[in-house]
Amino acid sequence: MIKRFFIGAFCAASLLSCTQKAPEAEVTLKDYFGDKFLIGVAVNVDQSWERDTLGAAIVKKHFNSVVAENCMKSEEIHPTPFTWNWGDADQFVKFGEENGMTVIGHCLIWHSQCSPWFFTDENGKQVSAEVLKARMRDHITAILTRYRGRIKGYDVVNEAILDDGSYRNSKFYEILGEEFIPWAFKCAHEADPDAELYYNDYSMALPGKREGVVKLVKSLKAQGLRIDAVGMQSHMGMEHPDFVEYEKTIQALIDAGVEVAITELDMDAIPTVSFGASVEDEAAYSAQMNPYPEALPDSVSQIWNDRMKQVFSIYEKYQDHICRVTVWGVQDGDSWKNDWPMKGRTNYPLLFDRNYEMKPFLKDIINKK
Ligand code: XIL
Repeated sequence: MIKRFFIGAFCAASLLSCTQKAPEAEVTLKDYFGDKFLIGVAVNVDQSWERDTLGAAIVKKHFNSVVAENCMKSEEIHPTPFTWNWGDADQFVKFGEENGMTVIGHCLIWHSQCSPWFFTDENGKQVSAEVLKARMRDHITAILTRYRGRIKGYDVVNEAILDDGSYRNSKFYEILGEEFIPWAFKCAHEADPDAELYYNDYSMALPGKREGVVKLVKSLKAQGLRIDAVGMQSHMGMEHPDFVEYEKTIQALIDAGVEVAITELDMDAIPTVSFGASVEDEAAYSAQMNPYPEALPDSVSQIWNDRMKQVFSIYEKYQDHICRVTVWGVQDGDSWKNDWPMKGRTNYPLLFDRNYEMKPFLKDIINKK
């Protein structure tokens, strides 16, 4: 009897002390940023199929928007004129929807990871402008029709402007000239009049690129075409971009009458090999350029975290005009920056480390330190 009393008393006491010491509910990224802008992440197929259970759990817990890292690019989703791989894209959209996230489509027209069949006929001869336009329209229409009402907006054209503001000499440009961009926006709007439409590019802090993109936005608007936002990819490094120039671009886009989306945020913690984000760039491995294969030293981590804190303070400053901040991958080990443009490096560019632990600067921000 006495024994039972003690056990009972002990349980009640420990329950009480448990309740008293219960940690405060953890603030998530979407709790904190939710009323400012969407906080998104690029997911790979292992995450959207939930084979990577830890990664998928972070996505569900912290983010309220998703974009597909690769599975909606034309070479993946539409590898031959008559073959469509809908499986991964369908799953990606379902994953986003089932978890109440805003789903973003990336990307419709891009020179890279592009199916080569777009540009040639059965005999390998370059197609005419009319044929390419029809192929673009069919490609865009099929995707937007399939995901009507489920994908909120699309990167309609990706990376068409060079750093000096001129047009990239892609196959689309070679065959159609400047017209390929308005054509893509027109087809997208016709296929889903409710979808938001974006132009997306890297190195947006460079004055030449800024001017070129602003000119493009103005020209699309002057043609009466829908463009809701410009995506600033924001693949950064420890020394680039210059934040004064970066802010100038945000302001210039606002002045041009579009919203700003930060679409592919990451920041090298190791030396940047290629500025920008041209996926074709390649460099031979050098151990010197891979200085922290085991772990990031605290001193470097501190600089990285301070710089990222500054980046997010810019986003908060312009929150009325920034519709979304999307980071390009879940945890450091997932990042394309481990292999681009030099294969086999260990980089630390994302918001969560390889143990799925949130980086310190972000804990500070969301806990308002
Ligand atoms: C990258 C992916 O992250 C990699 O997995 C892939 O091998 C190459 O493309 N700009 C873009 C993104 O718009 O689609 C690119 O994504 C990174 C640069």
